Amino acid sequence: MATPVHHPSALDAGALRRAFGAYPTGVVAIGALRDGEPVGFAASSFVSISLEPPMVAVSVARTSTTWPRLAEAPVLGLSVLSHGQGALCRKLASRAGDRFDGTPWQATDGGAVLIHDATLWLTARVGPVYDGGDHEIVLLELLSAELFPGVEPLVFHTSQFRELTPHA
Ligand SMILES: Cc1cc2nc3c(=O)[nH]c(=O)nc-3n(C[C@H](O)[C@H](O)[C@H](O)COP(=O)(O)O)c2cc1C
Repeated sequence: MATPVHHPSALDAGALRRAFGAYPTGVVAIGALRDGEPVGFAASSFVSISLEPPMVAVSVARTSTTWPRLAEAPVLGLSVLSHGQGALCRKLASRAGDRFDGTPWQATDGGAVLIHDATLWLTARVGPVYDGGDHEIVLLELLSAELFPGVEPLVFHTSQFRELTPHA
């Protein structure tokens, strides 16, 4: 058996970040219009929850300055980012500058912001919110889904963006 790199009790923040980063995820851009401008951020904590009723969840840091603005929007757009959108994703997480600068997007009639060339578009309403330690677990009630078949997703793993390759 391989020797663990960290003792199980060594749950300092850095070790935990590395541990969580060992689990590969996709990344969604969550966005909405606020005062006519696109507002949003990148989230890798997206997870599907329920088919009936259709629900997904994201875990949002309590320190997020963007989430309180999104939470008040009537409809949110969720775009599952595609394989070439790593740089776009970093920009959507940046603390400085216009997060949507150079990123093609569109808004729905309800004000959900969706990123072009994504793998999947969802629109959702904010549902129940649960305590998640230094994060909040936010259930999102889905209103619509539009899949773009053949558009490969972006994969986030060990702090790096990667692409899927078929198993040999
Ligand atoms: C790949 C990636 C995944 C992220 N996932 C999450 C997440 O699941 N939840 C979260 O609260 N922030 C996540 N972030 C951080 C946010 O995108 C953003 O940087 C953070 O909300 C700080 O900005 P704000 O104060 O404008 O909200 C992620 C960032 C990156 C680059």
